[in-house]
Amino acid sequence: MANVCVITGGGSGMGLEAAKYMPKDKIIVLSGRTVEKLERAVNQLRDMGYTVYAKACDTSNRESVKQLVQFACELGNVKNVINSAGVSPGMNGTQESILRINALGTVYINQEFSKVMQEGSVIVDVASNSAYLLPSFIIPKKVYPLAETDEAVFLQKLIKRSSLPKDEYKRKGFAYSLSKNFVVWYAKKCAFEYGTKGIRVVSVSPGLIATDMGNLEKEEGGSLIPLTAENRMGKPEELGFVLATVADERNGYLAGVDVLCDGGSTTRMKEFKKK
Ligand SMILES: NC(=O)c1ccc[n+]([C@@H]2O[C@H](COP(=O)([O-])OP(=O)(O)OC[C@H]3O[C@@H](n4cnc5c(N)ncnc54)[C@H](OP(=O)(O)O)[C@@H]3O)[C@@H](O)[C@H]2O)c1
Repeated sequence: MANVCVITGGGSGMGLEAAKYMPKDKIIVLSGRTVEKLERAVNQLRDMGYTVYAKACDTSNRESVKQLVQFACELGNVKNVINSAGVSPGMNGTQESILRINALGTVYINQEFSKVMQEGSVIVDVASNSAYLLPSFIIPKKVYPLAETDEAVFLQKLIKRSSLPKDEYKRKGFAYSLSKNFVVWYAKKCAFEYGTKGIRVVSVSPGLIATDMGNLEKEEGGSLIPLTAENRMGKPEELGFVLATVADERNGYLAGVDVLCDGGSTTRMKEFKKK
């Protein structure tokens, strides 16, 4: 049976770059909401010699995620899931849609795929270094478990917490940071839950990366650039390589942690503040 690697948000950015580092004997499934984008990405990978399929899926909809899981299972044994789907504050959307896609989307992906994945498989959830930016008193960790038991209250409480700033962009920024802080927490929770079945779960937190999303957020997020060790944004292919290596089965002991790949900006901010 063939091994399958599913990449949500795989039609662009670091998800698509991750596919380019996958071994060619794996079947790649790229997923996202925009079919044309997926088709362009599929053609690019086919030209490179990959066996690759597109499957439209909105990760904020559990039924849609279930259909993605079924599609992938019909192709073979799902060995790697890279959950790179996400939206940012500068895009059209609301605090709620950011939380639904980034936070609840991660719950649906992890829960539904873990039902079919077997020993030796891995889920990589893409978070963000913005998970580390909010002061701890704003982060409602006690609310996080509700994502699995009472979505409505989970959303209501996180929306309330992210409504502290007056400015609309900042509110969405808080919602984004909270959603990604949740992803870091949830990936760790899943690592211990699924670890007993031999499924590894890791989150990766990129800094500002020059994808479509990163370029859109550059004005606000750009203040982090001088805090990086090399004074630059990350390249999509650099993050693609990180995602692919973290997802590689040979990295068997990497679980229950967040891999912070942000050029050092968080470390500088917290430990070596620049004057
Ligand atoms: N670039 C950065 O600076 C940066 C920094 C930290 C973290 N991240 C995170 O890295 C991940 C990848 O982002 P990127 O930088 O590679 O940007 P990107 O090119 O915009 O990729 C995000 C992908 O997610 C897909 N997507 C969005 N909402 C979705 C949904 N509901 N269901 C399924 N797919 C969805 C988008 O396609 P459709 O719109 O067609 O669905 C898009 O292809 C995201 O989770 C992002 O939050 C990025």
